[in-house]
This record gives sequence, C-alpha cells and structure tokens, in this order.
Amino acid sequence: MSEPLVLGIETSCDETGVALVRGHELLVDSVASSMEEHARFGGIIPEIASRAHLEAMVPTLERALTEASVSLDQVDAVAVTAGPGLVGPLTVGVSAAKSLALALGKPLYGVNHVVGHAAVDQLVHGAFPERFIALVVSGGHSSLLLVEDIATGVHELGSTLDDAAGEAFDKVGRLLGLPYPGGPHIDRLARTGDPAAIRFPRGLTAAKDQAAHAYDFSFSGLKTAVARWVEAREDAGEPIPLADVAASFAAAVADVLTAKTLAACQRHGVDTLVIGGGFSANSQLRELATQRAAAAGVTVRIPPIRYCTDNGAMIAALGAAMLRAGVEPSGLEFGVDSSMPLGVTHV
Ligand code: KG4
Ligand code: ZN
Repeated sequence: MSEPLVLGIETSCDETGVALVRGHELLVDSVASSMEEHARFGGIIPEIASRAHLEAMVPTLERALTEASVSLDQVDAVAVTAGPGLVGPLTVGVSAAKSLALALGKPLYGVNHVVGHAAVDQLVHGAFPERFIALVVSGGHSSLLLVEDIATGVHELGSTLDDAAGEAFDKVGRLLGLPYPGGPHIDRLARTGDPAAIRFPRGLTAAKDQAAHAYDFSFSGLKTAVARWVEAREDAGEPIPLADVAASFAAAVADVLTAKTLAACQRHGVDTLVIGGGFSANSQLRELATQRAAAAGVTVRIPPIRYCTDNGAMIAALGAAMLRAGVEPSGLEFGVDSSMPLGVTHV
C-alpha cells in the first residue's frame, strides 16, 4: 500500500506555502510571497502579511492540487505551521488547515516551523540517519538542533540570543546603504572583498562563554562593531571599502556558525549535518561549512535554495514524519504559538 498523502500549509511569515507529500516524495510545492509589499518598509509588516495570506491561500491551494492532479478527497492528513512565527499570519494558515481537516474528516497536525526547515531535506536527500545535527538559519531564526527523531526527538542545543543571521545581514545591509533585504547583496559584495581585511568580533566564542553559551549565537555586537568601524571611517572623511567590510563581516558570521555547529557534531558523535533556512543560500556559510565538515569527516546535507526558504513542502514533510512515527493528531482546538519552543515538534 502506498504511504499517506499529506497536505502541508505554511504561513508563519511572508510566504504562503501549500505542498503535497507522499512519504519522502514531494508531489507539488506551491508558494506565493508578499515580500514585494514589505520591501518599501524595510521589514515584514505582520498585518500586510496576514491579509496577503488570506488572499493567496485558496489560489495557492488550487494551484497545488491542479499541478499534482490531486483532488482534496485524496488527502489523508493535513499539516500546518502552528509556530513559531507571526501571530496573524500563523492564524490565517491554521484557520485554513482546520477548515480543511474538518470538511475532509482527516487528521490535522500543528507542527513546528523551524523543525520543518530540517525535515524538508528528506524530500531531497532521502531518509535521515539515526542522529544528526541541524543548523537552521534564516531572517527569523538561527538554531542548532540535535535530532534523534525528526517527529518526536528534537533537542535544542542553542539559538541566537539577539539577531538571527539573516537579520544581522539585513541590518548591516541597511547601514551600508544596500536595498532590503540586504543579505544577498552583502553576499555578492563579499565575494569581491578581502575577508581578512578587518577583524570583526566573533560573538559568544570566548572561553568564558563556553559553559553557558557553547552553542548559542549573538550577532548584535558584530553588527555594532561594523557600524562603529564605518562611522569612524566616515568621520575621518575616508572612503568605505564596501567589499572588504562585507567580506570581513560575512566571514565572522560564517566562522561562528560553522565553528559551533561542527563542535556540536563532534561533542555528540554525529557524522551528518543538515543546514536549512533561507540564510543557507549564503555562499560564505556554504563554503566554510563544506570545508570544515570535510575536514571533520562530517557529511553536509543542504537542500536546494527553494526548499530552504519558507515553503509548504517542509511542513508536509514534517507531517509525513508525524504519521510515520504514529504521533497522535493535534485535534482542532489548538491555538498558534508565536514562540513555540524548538524541542516541541508538534502541538
Ligand atoms: O528563510 P527566509 O527566506 O525567510 C525567513 O524566514 O526569514 O530567509 C531570508 C533571510 C533574509 O534575512 C535574507 O537577507 C537572508 O535570509 N539571505 C541571505 C542570503 N539569501 C538570503 N543572507 C546572506 N546571504 C545570502 N545569499
Ligand atoms: Zn523559516
């Protein structure tokens, strides 16, 4: 008998994602984004995102069903992001998912968005090994997870104490006068600069931080250091070597992320690393992670970028994992949890 067909719905931020997954196979992944509506504000406006989800939900669902030649009554279970994320946007997705589950009489799983960023890799690189480390990095999250079972056994090793990696890139992008979101622009600039030109601080890497924050991140000090460095140059009337600033900043972020991640692999005796989230597009991170993992004998799995940014496939993949693990459905009475803990895979 074939595995159950899972419909996944994602609305935690600015992407409306609807996907269909059967086992480890992705049938369709349909995404609508409201990013362009936020660009002129320099950040996501939750009210605008909520309204965009409301408008995009049914068309995105219909597009997914048509593309996969699937009718709603063939769906065996529904999975939806219950958190973490923005309350309004999450509520639109959860309401849609509850209505569908109720109308179809099918089980509903409210799942964790960040865990979904790791789960999606199964659709690309196949079943997970018994244990692995996942680094989930985006504009909203920077988290290090030890995964023993993607449906039921996720342990948070560390997270950012302030800015997420992508957020730090976007803020530094703003102070360098780059368009929003600045991340990809800094990445491009950095490729032409000298990463050793300026020694920017590596947050939470001092010996004194090892006890409490070995696997936590902090990027706000780095961001401030870049701002000070640029101001000092401006005050002295000297030109800003943009490419060198970008390269040195990107090198500091990639250094901290990969050093802590590989230390976690070593500490937990794990030989597989999964990297997910929109920031995994970053070339400095990819290059250093690949290089350091190879040196440590760790296999790196990074899904193609379209599965790293927010999408429905990651939620359908996690829903499919819930079914495989025999997890009880969430019922129809749960609310959204904007700060859902990472050890909680489902509600
Ligand atoms: O996962 P995502 O699309 O949305 C969130 O859930 O946040 O991630 C977008 C974030 C933004 O902060 C963006 O600037 C950053 O990831 N980003 C990058 C790159 N591509 C996207 N940052 C650095 N280098 C990149 N190539
Ligand atoms: Zn995300």
